[in-house]
Amino acid sequence: MKKTKGTGVMLFGMFAIIVIIAVFILAGNGAKKEAASKEIRVGLLLYRGDDTFISTLRSYIEEKAKEYERTEGIKVTLDILDAKSNQNTQNNQVDRLLELGCNALCVNIVDRFAASVVIDKAMAADVPVIFFNREPVEEDMNRWEKLYYVGADAKESAVLEGKILVDAYRKDPASLDRNGDGTVSYVLLEGESNHQDSLIRTEWSIQTLKDGGVPLEKITGGIASWERSQASAMMEQWLTDYPDQIELVICNNDDMALGIVEACEENNISFDSLPIIGVDATEKGCQSVADGKMAFTIYQSGAGQGEYLIKAAARLAKGQSLEGMEYLSEDQKYVWVPFEKVDKSNVSQYQ
Ligand code: BGC
Repeated sequence: MKKTKGTGVMLFGMFAIIVIIAVFILAGNGAKKEAASKEIRVGLLLYRGDDTFISTLRSYIEEKAKEYERTEGIKVTLDILDAKSNQNTQNNQVDRLLELGCNALCVNIVDRFAASVVIDKAMAADVPVIFFNREPVEEDMNRWEKLYYVGADAKESAVLEGKILVDAYRKDPASLDRNGDGTVSYVLLEGESNHQDSLIRTEWSIQTLKDGGVPLEKITGGIASWERSQASAMMEQWLTDYPDQIELVICNNDDMALGIVEACEENNISFDSLPIIGVDATEKGCQSVADGKMAFTIYQSGAGQGEYLIKAAARLAKGQSLEGMEYLSEDQKYVWVPFEKVDKSNVSQYQ
């Protein structure tokens, strides 16, 4: 009898201790969750910080993070690292940011065919990744449900660009076919050779012109890797090799279009007789349109992408899904922020 009573007391004591420990653990977890919902840490990895569009996007991301803090009352710590075009550097940066305890990573991958290393690391740490601007291949994107992509649909920008040119040609063929020989003779400047935006913008701008019935002749073209100085050097050469023959210059981005403008100014070429087209609507690109140098550009919304990245990263960091967010694809992995046309008539809205 005595023995039974003692055992009962002991069992009750043990039970009480277990209950107390459980209460402490649950309280601790609750406190951690509470902390996570009051503060999030986002790692931002840039392929190259001195790229004009990327540095603009970065500023928007910083601005939107501050705005998010103010409106949501949640502290956002942004850790920003520049890979300076080196994928190995970026892989090491991912390790560092995961060690620092980032709750979500926004990755502007250097080599979009080499995303698997970054994905392995993020999966091992169970940290969601939003790739942006440089799109990993589908096979990699499908490796895990916590992988997302935020960008702009390159085909959309190219078709928009092509349609503007088709309309101009239909209205007045001489606006593009200056010498009246029945064909529009163009040169085309491409960005990095493996970048989805170079490949798709190139293909669809030309395809749209052809579909629209504009007779075309490609004089020449080149890969200037998004860079102003490379584009300018190429154009200098082409103006010597093909004097008075170039009637249209199509560039995959504004920086290269600005390089073309520079070469034309050096060679006293009138902008009225040579339409130069870009994409991005960067600050300098817009200025060039306003000055009547570039004919038009297509606005790639750094503000829109920046805002989206912060809002999406915050949701994921808090363990929520992206469901219900604007522009989200059906499979809830891809986000395409729309483009807009910018010419002299509306450029002031973008400056
Ligand atoms: C932009 C380019 C930029 C590149 C970087 C493109 O979407 O149009 O200006 O250099 O992204 O990845």
